Amino acid sequence: MDADTRERLAREIEFHDLTVDDLEEISGLITGMSRDGESLRLRDKSAAYYRWMYFENPAGQAFGCLARHEGRVVCSFAVAPKAMQVDGRRVLLGKTMDMFTHPDYQGLGLMGRCADQVFARAREGGLEGWYVTPSVNSYPIFKRWGYREDFVLHFRARPLDVAATVASVRPRAGRWASAASRAVAPLARLLDRTPRLPAGWSVAEEDTFGPEVDDLWRRVGGGYRVAIVRDAGYLRWRYSDNPDDYAVLALRRDGVLRGLAVLKVTVRHGLAVGEVVDVVAPARDARTWGLLLRHAVDVLRRRGCAVVEAWAIRGTWVDRRLIRSGLAIPRATLPFLLSPDLGEPAVHDPEAWLLSQGDGNDV
Ligand SMILES: CC(C)(COP(=O)(O)OP(=O)(O)OC[C@H]1O[C@@H](n2cnc3c(N)ncnc32)[C@H](O)[C@@H]1OP(=O)(O)O)[C@@H](O)C(=O)NCCC(=O)NCCS
Repeated sequence: MDADTRERLAREIEFHDLTVDDLEEISGLITGMSRDGESLRLRDKSAAYYRWMYFENPAGQAFGCLARHEGRVVCSFAVAPKAMQVDGRRVLLGKTMDMFTHPDYQGLGLMGRCADQVFARAREGGLEGWYVTPSVNSYPIFKRWGYREDFVLHFRARPLDVAATVASVRPRAGRWASAASRAVAPLARLLDRTPRLPAGWSVAEEDTFGPEVDDLWRRVGGGYRVAIVRDAGYLRWRYSDNPDDYAVLALRRDGVLRGLAVLKVTVRHGLAVGEVVDVVAPARDARTWGLLLRHAVDVLRRRGCAVVEAWAIRGTWVDRRLIRSGLAIPRATLPFLLSPDLGEPAVHDPEAWLLSQGDGNDV
């Protein structure tokens, strides 16, 4: 693009704060730029999703900025507030969301302008900082802006249908895997039986979060130095009011809620993948985490998933717990970045966090 065109565009492009009237256009820009089609389906990206995410969040409305050229949206970015606890203090942090510039307008500095405006508004709105789960395209940008990378996230996976999983990434190897898995099928069926529960324990699939969830968080929340406050109000918004579908697994002992797991089925590489999106359980309680994870795998197997996966911060207690519960295979790593001036020391300690896929916005 020549210098004159750049100058003209710089004069013609208008920036403004996100409003509820922009949601259809944001959805149009983002879905138009996603080329994955049917082989990748992680979450809804409709206007209804953006209304829910940006305007119905109990922690507050998102801070967003759009750039328009000749009336149409060509760049969009937002930060959504998260009500968090950090070393016992209630803190508003943010999560960066959906950073997109239309291909015809990339490299013109539009995202730089939008981000400056969003971050200024977020500070005015009381956010002390924000976290980022960047894509390959946005990672170098945030690094350039001085974001901190104290630890790495990764997926831990357990294949349930090995042949289908291998075939989805390597079709030729899939034929060998298919023959091998037929040979071990009787053994696999033995291992795949629904896990037994100790006396007095029960597991149930539920579709929402009642008042006992507030009691659960009061009992277990203090065990985590850094976490989104997972009370009933937050969980209901995040998973029940969301346009997408999630399953809730409630684990009880003698009728008292001991833990929750939230599950979702996504499509990756054309494969049905079961995601353990969230876990609410006492910190470092191996029994409760183990029972929840094993039953989560069982539910997702019955829903036809070829593989089950969950996020963990690499090398932490949760990571080791996933391995012991059968989600042993490390899949993709994901960078996790923090805005440069976050003062709280705990946020830099990987063991301090309760962090799950639900704290991101992809699933
Ligand atoms: C990533 C993306 C949003 C950047 O938008 P953009 O409007 O082209 O970015 P800008 O021109 O405003 O550049 C912003 C800054 O990033 C830098 N930058 C841009 N592309 C970069 C790259 N590939 N590597 C390193 N730095 C880069 C710019 O130099 C600028 O730095 P500065 O603020 O220090 O001057 C855009 O390329 C895009 O939409 N990509 C596809 C969708 C995507 O992957 N989004 C990210 C995750 S959801």
